[in-house]
Amino acid sequence: MCGIVGAVAERPVNRILIEGLKRLEYRGYDSAGVALSEAGTLNTVKAVGKVANLEAAVAESGVSGHTGIAHTRWATHGGVTEVNAHPHISNNEIALVHNGIIENHESLRAVLKDDGYTFLSDTDTEVMVHLIHQLRQQHNSLLDSVKAAVKQLEGAYGTVVFDKANDNEIIVARSGSPLVIGLGLGENFIASDQLALLAVTRNFIFLEEGDVARITRDTVEIYDINGEPVEREVVESNISQDVSGKGEYRHYMLKEIYEQPMAVRNTLEGRLDGDRVSVDAFGDQANQIFKDVKHVQIIACGTSYHSGMVARYWLEQYAGVSCNVEIASEFRYRESFVHENSLLVTISQSGETADTLAALRLAKEQGYMASMTICNVPGSSLVRESDLAFMTKAGAEIGVASTKAFTTQLVGLLMLTASIAQEKGRDQSVIVNAIKTLPNKLEESLNMAEGIEALAEEFADKHHSLFLGRGSQYPIAMEGALKLKEISYIHAEAYAAGELKHGPLALIDADMPIIVVAPNNELLEKLKSNVEEVRARGGIIYVFADKDSNFASDDTMRVMNVNHVEDIIAPVVYTIPLQLLSYYVAVIKGTDVDQPRNLAKSVTVE
Ligand code: F6R
Repeated sequence: MCGIVGAVAERPVNRILIEGLKRLEYRGYDSAGVALSEAGTLNTVKAVGKVANLEAAVAESGVSGHTGIAHTRWATHGGVTEVNAHPHISNNEIALVHNGIIENHESLRAVLKDDGYTFLSDTDTEVMVHLIHQLRQQHNSLLDSVKAAVKQLEGAYGTVVFDKANDNEIIVARSGSPLVIGLGLGENFIASDQLALLAVTRNFIFLEEGDVARITRDTVEIYDINGEPVEREVVESNISQDVSGKGEYRHYMLKEIYEQPMAVRNTLEGRLDGDRVSVDAFGDQANQIFKDVKHVQIIACGTSYHSGMVARYWLEQYAGVSCNVEIASEFRYRESFVHENSLLVTISQSGETADTLAALRLAKEQGYMASMTICNVPGSSLVRESDLAFMTKAGAEIGVASTKAFTTQLVGLLMLTASIAQEKGRDQSVIVNAIKTLPNKLEESLNMAEGIEALAEEFADKHHSLFLGRGSQYPIAMEGALKLKEISYIHAEAYAAGELKHGPLALIDADMPIIVVAPNNELLEKLKSNVEEVRARGGIIYVFADKDSNFASDDTMRVMNVNHVEDIIAPVVYTIPLQLLSYYVAVIKGTDVDQPRNLAKSVTVE
């Protein structure tokens, strides 16, 4: 989603801002812009489309500056145009970029218009810059004007502002949208994601909700939600800087699919102790919490929600605790029942998903015994605001379609299942021994790529598809359908195979490919009956099946064999062929695999 980069330095900051925006491109956006200040002159350059367009426009304009702010916009209010792109400017004096949504923008706009402000864009953001400009006339400093302005804002913002009259400072404010200050030597930076600044610093201060800060070349002053000065911890990042290289791969998504054995190895490293999960894998207080827990409530969105759906099967079967899984945007807007000794688990790649974060904050008021997050981004809001955190070690995931984050989340959830089982005195060695085989099993499933690439040809002219699975493979079918729709734009639905005759059978004809996930488990015979129901109605079936499942390819069925795996880890392994299928179909269709239309990597607005 939208990205922010800002800098105040002695040297020109153009390059730093453009490079920073490039590092945020993976988040998804549709236009970009930059405002630069030099010797009392404020210049703004904007471009629709890729950051490369902005880069060319900045180079052509010849503008430069030692203070600047830059933004990639993912349209919410107002179409994709240069005028709507950020930065927004008030009276050629104050420049501002913003992530989030201002919900009371209409009423603020009406008041500001009455006061003579002219609005150029259709955005909610433009009200902020005029409001700050208006308040600037009543306050001694830009800092005080921003502090006064945020009191009038409803909604979410991460915002960065400067005034060309005093361009040795930038003012930033955070509420609901992350911001991180990067500390340099004689220069300081701000961004919505530390990845943007890794080329210039490793030292970061993560702002907290309600913080407002004043940043100059040499100083950082932070004020908390009550306006009191606060010190925030400086964190040294050890995240890999190398987010830009696709290496030998054509797309980030393919690279990330192939990184999965390594990502799983990294996630397991140091966290297993013989046939047990090591006590400190989940943090200090985890043991007691796992001993006491009777119920697990999982909250997540999208792909992360699917990993939670798989975990429900594991937690109830192997750990003997009840489990509910809910989409965050639903959970946060209903009155839900809190079971006795309930552990709240959020799952998120980014750790910044607005709905998941809001659900966590709500749950903290509802009497859960503890909160835990399974997350891929150290220092993210979910990690900082949860009692326990299990960090997946997938590394930076750049492709908008989540792949290695999902499989490492599953690994985290398997370890959670084993840890709770352990504390409840159940045998968890079967889980841990199966987990250890995962990296090799994932490598084996990647060997299916060539066959799947050939198979993908048959999907290129299709408009609809149906994914079927049973038990813990049902969420894998859901994840397969989500991957296919988001990157190939083919309509894909998933069903628990037992539901077929309750409606979806009506859809079956030769133009509707049916993808079936069929490991050799106790549900196989039931699944085979469902497959026959489809065949009898003329459907073409694509089965990903265990070698011993005894499916045979013929005119109406293509069988792709998957090496045998222990049932408990089968959901992780069967994910790989479905990711590869979506990838190759998208490549054949020529879509933008890494940045599919209308989607963003980190959904920081609701
Ligand atoms: C799909 C995808 C999304 C995310 C969802 C939640 O491939 O990536 O569905 O899973 O937006 O994001 P996180 O995991 O960052 O909370």
